[in-house]
Amino acid sequence: KLAHATAAIARDAGATVTLLELSEFDIPLYNADLEAQGTPADVIRLKEILWQHPAWVICSPEYNGSYTALLKNTIDWASSPVKGNPDWQDGGKSFRGKVVGMLSASPGALGGLRSQSHLAPLLINAECWLAPKAFALGSAGSAFDDSGALIQQAHRDR
Ligand SMILES: Cc1cc2nc3c(=O)[nH]c(=O)nc-3n(C[C@H](O)[C@H](O)[C@H](O)COP(=O)(O)O)c2cc1C
Repeated sequence: KLAHATAAIARDAGATVTLLELSEFDIPLYNADLEAQGTPADVIRLKEILWQHPAWVICSPEYNGSYTALLKNTIDWASSPVKGNPDWQDGGKSFRGKVVGMLSASPGALGGLRSQSHLAPLLINAECWLAPKAFALGSAGSAFDDSGALIQQAHRDR
């Protein structure tokens, strides 16, 4: 919901937005033996989309004080070189120089903020620029109206 609300706010501000749901990508758990048999088509599709966009907003819940295995797995695949594919032999190609905003949401009070402190060094390692303003939405279960918009103006402003 936070990702969708953020996309709507960014579009209203004039940005061209591509909204990705990781559930729409058929990406298995990373395993180098599996990769040796061929990189899944949806990994290539994701690499292309990430590469085409100069800035990203990553929006994630928090599991056990960190970001999710789904997000880590997705980043691992997206940053892995594709052997025999000249376009994607450079694993860092999709990541290098991107400007990335981090958002999280949680039913808890901290809004998944701790997940961002783990995600930040991973993104820096991938040579991304982190937007200085991050946003963690606490009590997320009551933060949206029936249309999926953020209720509080202060949240929309952040
Ligand atoms: C394994 C697991 C660990 C969790 N750990 C945290 C946590 O550390 N902090 C937090 O705020 N919420 C935590 N939660 C609650 C999630 O914020 C909540 O389930 C949220 O709805 C997850 O989003 P999702 O349904 O999109 O996966 C955890 C949930 C699960 C399933």
